[in-house]
Amino acid sequence: ENYTVVIPAAGQGKRMKAGKNKQFLMLNGIPLVIHTLRVFEQDDFCSEIVLVVNEQETEAMEQLVNEYGITTPVCIIPGGRERQNSVYEGLKQVENGGKDPVVLIHDGARPFIKKEQIDTLVSTAKASGAAIVAVPVKDTVKKASGTTVTATVEREGLWAVQTPQAFRLSLILSAHQQAAEAGFLGTDDASLAEWCGKTVRIVEGDYQNIKLTTPEDLLFAEAIISNRKDGHI
Ligand code: CTP
Ligand code: MG
Repeated sequence: ENYTVVIPAAGQGKRMKAGKNKQFLMLNGIPLVIHTLRVFEQDDFCSEIVLVVNEQETEAMEQLVNEYGITTPVCIIPGGRERQNSVYEGLKQVENGGKDPVVLIHDGARPFIKKEQIDTLVSTAKASGAAIVAVPVKDTVKKASGTTVTATVEREGLWAVQTPQAFRLSLILSAHQQAAEAGFLGTDDASLAEWCGKTVRIVEGDYQNIKLTTPEDLLFAEAIISNRKDGHI
C-alpha cells in the first residue's frame, strides 16, 4: 500500500550541541536529513515526503533535496514550536483522496530505519489504524523522587518507542486536532491516539534505529554505517 511520510526536521538540535540544527550535520559525507530522506526515496511504496523545517531553513533544505537529487516528491513546509506542532502542520498537507490513506511520521534525526520494518508497520496500521515501531527495554528502570529510588518498574511489558509511527490519516489528524484544542502535549504521536481512546499496535524494531540526539550518538551512527558497508546487518 502506498503511503506518505511526514518527516519533522524543524527542531534546534540543542542537545547535540553542534551550534546548528543537527539535520545538517555530515554523517559519512552526507547530511543527516538526506540519509533519512534516502530511506524513503528507496521505498517504492512511499509516494510523497512532507518535510517539516524551520522557516528560515527552508531554502537550505530545498537546496539539499535538489543537490542530492531526491526523486520522490518532497513538499517542504514550516514547522512549529514543539515537535507535535510541526507534525500537525505536516499532517495537514497530506491529501486524503477519499481513501483515508496510511501516513507515516518519522523523525528526520533517525536515519537507520529499515525497509522491512516500514513494510510491517504499514500493513499493521492499514489493518488496525495505528502502529508504532518499538524495542524491548534493556535496562532496569527505576522511579525516583529526586535521586532517591521509590520503585523499580517491572521491565516485563516495557517498550522503548521509536519512529516511524503509522496511522490512518483521519485517525491521527483528528487526534492532533483534539489535542491542539485541549492543549494536550504528548511525547509522541501515538500518545495522542491513545489519549483519544484508540488502540495502538507495536511492531518490534531493532536497536540500530537510534535517534541522533547527543554528541556520542554520532559515534554510534558512524559504527552502524561502517558495519553496514562491511556487509553485516
Ligand atoms: N522537531 C520538529 N519541530 C520541533 C522540534 C523537533 O520538527 N519544534 C523534530 C526534530 O527536528 C527531530 C525530531 O523532531 O527530527 C525529534 O526531535 P529531537 O530529537 O528532540 O530534535 P531537536 O528538537 O532538534 O533536538 P533538541 O530537543 O535536542 O533541541
Ligand atoms: Mg527536541
